[in-house]
Amino acid sequence: MKKVGIVGWRGMVGSVLLDRMVSENDFDKIEPKFFSTSQAGQVGPKIGGVDYVLEDANSIEKLSELDIIISCQGGDYTKSVHPKLRSANWTGYWIDAASALRMNEESVIILDPVNRNVIDQAITEGRKDFIGGNCTVSLMLMGIGALFKEDLVEWMTSMTYQAASGGGARHMKELLTQMDVIGQKSKELMDGDILDLDAAMSELLSSKEINSECFGAPLALNVIPWIDSEVEAGQTREEWKAYSETNKILGRENNPIPIDGTCVRVGALRSHSQALTIKLKKNVDIKEIESLLKNSSEWVEFVPNTPEATREKLCPRYVSGTLKTVVGRVRKMNLGDDYLNIFTAGDQLLWGAAEPLRRMLNILL
Ligand code: HSE
Repeated sequence: MKKVGIVGWRGMVGSVLLDRMVSENDFDKIEPKFFSTSQAGQVGPKIGGVDYVLEDANSIEKLSELDIIISCQGGDYTKSVHPKLRSANWTGYWIDAASALRMNEESVIILDPVNRNVIDQAITEGRKDFIGGNCTVSLMLMGIGALFKEDLVEWMTSMTYQAASGGGARHMKELLTQMDVIGQKSKELMDGDILDLDAAMSELLSSKEINSECFGAPLALNVIPWIDSEVEAGQTREEWKAYSETNKILGRENNPIPIDGTCVRVGALRSHSQALTIKLKKNVDIKEIESLLKNSSEWVEFVPNTPEATREKLCPRYVSGTLKTVVGRVRKMNLGDDYLNIFTAGDQLLWGAAEPLRRMLNILL
């Protein structure tokens, strides 16, 4: 059995990964080893009745014994350990949730329901670094990958509604704490005049009572149209990833499809949504588009463009904690017959992070 090392299993993405691996009996197929950067020698997770003792995640010697390493430890760990391992001639497979290696020429961004051909080709070529994509990009492609596969997209804009979980566990707690403070204050004023209540909320949002250390601005009762650092020409890194990662996943680096938009943090907890405007290469009948989307994968749930279905299913609430990617509001826009409107949502921690990693492990096994 292949020796598989797991680093960063205690964090949010790592925990979701372990849960999924247990549900899918992945541990029956491997000899797992759990690593820690700070608690080597201590007892780690209990899986299938076995208490695993943690090994040192900074030991190149220990890591070199592995056939496959899955890291959910974050970019700094990857940047520190991966080059040392490769310099020590380790030829195992590195599967990573962090973005650090994503755009390296030797790396493949993994999303097998969309790019299994790119992954298979890379394995054949002897490539060894398989990196999970940005959550927003992966979720968009899980929803509408069929349109790219059919080469129907001339260009696309993506306006995102990204959940707090994209920032991490502390960010989720910060949002909920903000909501709690707002809830308590509003309760006192709920029987009074609505404009007094509104004024009190505005004042509260600008006060020190609302802790916004993680997000840099209040997220509850607010939106933040800036995610990650600035790159060039006023674009954010998150917006840049939509273009660069989508084209890399599709293996279209030499013939990229223009993609741009505005990435916005909203007060959802763990599922990202996005509104897409797609310029089609030709006028395709809406029924054909719907059929392509409906039949694209077992995880896509097509939501009819009705108020009832949209309210019930096309939202973070419906997809959170599931592997479903909902796709709806599908209609031709009045901009012209070759302009398509779509809204999609998916769980940021499952298809957005952990699921492509465990599926890559299974492909390698
Ligand atoms: N960068 C994403 C976000 C999450 O902030 O929502 C990770 O892909």
